[in-house]
Amino acid sequence: MIVETQRGIAEKSQEIWRHFLAARTTMVANLNPPRAAASATGLSISRAVEALEPSATIAMAGKARQLKTAGKTVYDFSLGEPDFTTPEHICAAAAAAMKAGHTHYTAAGGIAELKAAVARQYKERHGLEYAPEQVVIANGAKHALHNAFTALCDPGDEVIIPAPYWVSYAEQVKLAGGKPVIVETEEAADFKLQPEQLRAAITPRAKILLICSPSNPTGSMYSPEELGKLADVVLEAGLGVVADEIYERLVYGQNRFVSFATVRPGLAERTVLVNGVSKSYAMTGWRIGWTMSPAPLAKAFDNLQSQETSNPSSISQYAALAALTGPQQCVDTMLAEFARRREFVRARIARLPDVTCTQMSGAFYAFINIGAHLGRTYGGVRVDNSAQWCLELLSQQNVATVMGSAFGAEGYARLSFATSMQNLEAGLERIEAFLKSAT
Ligand SMILES: Cc1ncc(COP(=O)(O)O)c(C=O)c1O
Repeated sequence: MIVETQRGIAEKSQEIWRHFLAARTTMVANLNPPRAAASATGLSISRAVEALEPSATIAMAGKARQLKTAGKTVYDFSLGEPDFTTPEHICAAAAAAMKAGHTHYTAAGGIAELKAAVARQYKERHGLEYAPEQVVIANGAKHALHNAFTALCDPGDEVIIPAPYWVSYAEQVKLAGGKPVIVETEEAADFKLQPEQLRAAITPRAKILLICSPSNPTGSMYSPEELGKLADVVLEAGLGVVADEIYERLVYGQNRFVSFATVRPGLAERTVLVNGVSKSYAMTGWRIGWTMSPAPLAKAFDNLQSQETSNPSSISQYAALAALTGPQQCVDTMLAEFARRREFVRARIARLPDVTCTQMSGAFYAFINIGAHLGRTYGGVRVDNSAQWCLELLSQQNVATVMGSAFGAEGYARLSFATSMQNLEAGLERIEAFLKSAT
């Protein structure tokens, strides 16, 4: 009897062991699936890159371009870039730099004059003291963000990202091995992260809070008091912060921009500021952005960049230097035009049936709530989500927008008003016609 029982126990434990081995084999296979057919050529794509979502904004702009090439008039509200040409004195500085022979490698993290000019601008505008060594000039703010996430994330480190979010944050975090933790904000709260939401999202693996103000895609902007309350949670939890301040200069009405690093003492030591010339000076194609951070981190960004890209274009750096140190009237002129368009867009959206939109305090986007229009049929096509809505709007009315789902907010569409008043007028007429055509 005892022998029988012992045999039973032995068989049971062997069975458990077999189950364990089988489960482990399945788990390892899932973690490490066999390479796809392409591996026969030795050129299979890495899992990290294969898992990347393509940029929805760039994809929609591509579709709009295809229609334009086919001879259609397209009202393109998809891309987030100023429609103005780069101011003349900046172009002239680039030409002068070429003629002066500034056509060689520079230091990987940028020329000393530009680093000093960035530091000086932050001192003058925000009272922040950074040494030029704390500034790293990158190939646009997008690359500056990539440097930051790559240098900060170990596998599994969590980066808290409020949604709606700009398309590249989560993808860059994943690429760096980190884990994006998306926290949905409310339209009723102007899409701003609330301190209690932040507190609830913090786990033992939480490392970084990403904050973007003014925001792409919502145009919302935190007040100094709101930033202060988030900063209290950051300080209490010992988080680091990446603050994307690329839309700093594009702020409307009574709204006042403050840099996140200034709202509480001790914050600059735990914050990476990201900024650049793309949006303020209509310089998207020049590819100059930067980080400002504590010195050891700046050195890490510099090292990373020295291995990945070397310096950003030397000529563009001289152009950016002229942008920062030259006359600033051009920024105000462009801002005044964006403000005029924003007023028009706000008033026009208010007349669209069953569409809501928050106040657009900064940047150049309207993030419209189209939830009431989903589940309807447009030109015989049933539309159930924001991606379908945007695609039908493009194919039926030649108006390009970007689906809210790309920004982590289903039921919305983003319209960039960085396009001419004429386009805005005609395009919004067509959006109205589209909405009214639904059955
Ligand atoms: C919020 C935000 N951050 C960063 C960037 C990247 O800017 P850059 O052109 O300097 O790479 C963009 C551009 O669309 C943006 O909207």
